[in-house]
Amino acid sequence: MKFTPALASLLVALVSSGSATAWFRVACTGPLVQERVDPIISPISNPSNHVHTVHGASNFACNSTYDTLRASQCTSCLVKQDLSNYWFPRLYFQDPKTKLFEPVSNGGLLVYYQNRGDGDVRNGGKGLKAFPPGFKMLSGNPRARSKKYPEGEGSQGELRERAIQWSCLRYPSNAGYDGHGFPTSDCEAGFNARIHMPACWDGVNVDSPDHMSHTAYLSGLDNGSCPPTHPVYLMKLFYEITWDVHAFASRWNPSTDKWPFVYATGDPTGYSWHGDFQNGWDTTALQNAIDKCNNPNDQTNNGVTEACSYLTVQQASVADTCRTNPVVNEPIDGTLSKLPGCNPIQPGPGDATLYSSSNCPF
Ligand SMILES: *[C@@H]1O[C@H](CO)[C@@H](O)[C@H](O)[C@H]1NC(C)=O
Ligand SMILES: *[C@@H]1O[C@H](CO)[C@@H](O)[C@H](O)[C@H]1NC(C)=O
Repeated sequence: MKFTPALASLLVALVSSGSATAWFRVACTGPLVQERVDPIISPISNPSNHVHTVHGASNFACNSTYDTLRASQCTSCLVKQDLSNYWFPRLYFQDPKTKLFEPVSNGGLLVYYQNRGDGDVRNGGKGLKAFPPGFKMLSGNPRARSKKYPEGEGSQGELRERAIQWSCLRYPSNAGYDGHGFPTSDCEAGFNARIHMPACWDGVNVDSPDHMSHTAYLSGLDNGSCPPTHPVYLMKLFYEITWDVHAFASRWNPSTDKWPFVYATGDPTGYSWHGDFQNGWDTTALQNAIDKCNNPNDQTNNGVTEACSYLTVQQASVADTCRTNPVVNEPIDGTLSKLPGCNPIQPGPGDATLYSSSNCPF
């Protein structure tokens, strides 16, 4: 599936319905690179546990910093002031007959920047804060293989589970369905996987030992309040990726086979879906976009990024030329007998073990 603006606009409609506050979108084209590198979980050294699809600034590296990202030559995303990186695990098809793995393509990444929560001025708050230099965060849990909390219970652990969502898009459009884990059918119009990021910050630490505890989710995930421990309201990020699972529809039978897709984490359940963010923004531009492009009377209310004069939107064809060469030398494409890193399939329901194999003989 190639990056398609038409698909992107369809999904906007889906996400914007019911939203009464402003937002803009950072659309990302083909990936910058795909490999086992992770500057948050495995900083300093390669390889990391599983293959990621990486978008954004060209200076992505296991040891990237705010300053190195700011010095990037290009970004594979469309907003030029944003030299951040966004990454998530890659999806593979596992042939039910041969058990071999093949990568699944997607239509690019959409990152929604949403003015949400009680801190937003339009909800009576004092305003949202731009991500500070050096800020990193993640959402979801690569070890998870099942749902542990009752839906809607509201603790931070439950919000973290609820933050990971998907829609199986089908024809006709009302035949699609949402759920937890993975679907069970083909998704003719794509498997739309989503991630809500935490939008509350402790105001002090740009990272933490578990890479999560410096952040927290809004009480309603998409709205509501920040806990007293994390009083600083941030712009809320929402990731959306549509995987072209339909390309494999002729190779499995939904009535006799299990859903034949696995995340690069070795996850056949879908619960390990997660996303990462490393800030590379021009702080002034982001703060201006947050404060001044939050207007009910113009197109910034409808997510039109071009309507925000503090942001420069580059053409998709230009962004799509921004690529870097992988530094981890191993096969990740074609037909593979093992997932990169030799990640074993771990179906749970208990948490998976994260193996780190730097010498994985294929
Ligand atoms: C990251 O590692 C590379 C390769 O070892 C090195 O050249 C570069 O200086 C390092 N960057 C930082 C910011 O430490
Ligand atoms: C958040 O949104 C949900 C769903 O629209 C709504 O039921 C709830 O009342 C909202 N909560 C707050 C605190 O605004």
